[in-house]
Amino acid sequence: MKVFYTVSELQSYLAQYKQNNSIGFVPTMGALHAGHISLIKRAKLENDLNVASIFVNPTQFDKEDDLAKYPKTLDSDLNKLQGNCDIIFVPEVTEVYPKLVTSQIFNFDGLDKTMEGAFRKGHFDGVGTVVKRLFEIVEPNRAYFGEKDFQQLTIIKKMVELENLPVEIVNCPIEREKDGLAMSSRNQRLTDDQRNESPLIYKTLQKAQSMFAENDIPTIKKMVEDTFKNNQILDLEYFEIADIETLQPTLQKIENKTYRAFIAVFADAVRLIDNIALN
Ligand code: PAJ
Repeated sequence: MKVFYTVSELQSYLAQYKQNNSIGFVPTMGALHAGHISLIKRAKLENDLNVASIFVNPTQFDKEDDLAKYPKTLDSDLNKLQGNCDIIFVPEVTEVYPKLVTSQIFNFDGLDKTMEGAFRKGHFDGVGTVVKRLFEIVEPNRAYFGEKDFQQLTIIKKMVELENLPVEIVNCPIEREKDGLAMSSRNQRLTDDQRNESPLIYKTLQKAQSMFAENDIPTIKKMVEDTFKNNQILDLEYFEIADIETLQPTLQKIENKTYRAFIAVFADAVRLIDNIALN
């Protein structure tokens, strides 16, 4: 396992392999858990070499506080990567953003305006900017993204199409704790009471899934809103059902379209997201 801190060292090391080896890449912000590791293992399985990056990207945080509180656990991250990852890139901000620490503004055809994009202004321009830059640096054949952040995954595919980048984007399923809570770096910040209550998020999504065929969308939304209205610990920020191609929330099902349910919930200041396929 090799760890690089600068673009030039990483690129000169990769140069010797590029010709004859495929590279699978997994960008992360660290605080690694089994969800991240599943992507990293898959990148190794499907490529000759796998590369992971650990970089807490300042341009995708709309709140200073959220950026400051993002867990930084490099030593334990490197331990978890041992045996699973060939190359790790851990750049400073100046390596990724040699000039200004700002986002490119993309036109994602409205994919970035709903749900996470509506509640986190500028978030997806920041994600698009950093992923494009990391692709430029690593030049992977394939890159792996989790369905945990389904909207992000869809937007990255759009970015690759818009910018005409020679990389295949691979969807990876959501890894969950035994009780159903989607794995997330933020779960570490939950108190015991919040952690005990948090499986309700996935349970509610499963209930929405089981209702989907027989009920209209407003009925399902009401079920979800009522569930959280009565909860002392978890506050619903949004629950939406959206067509997976446009990511526009809808109240009306259209035949032959594929839908997913998306949810964001607060446990005090900790924001948790999840989603589920409906049909
Ligand atoms: P981060 O939150 O660290 O996530 C890195 C990758 O791991 C993303 O593709 C995310 O969807 C995936 N992931 C996280 N939890 C998962 C889970 N429970 N199951 C499956 N996959 C999971 O997403 C980011 O970082 C950043 O926005 C990034 C793309 C690195 C750009 O800065």
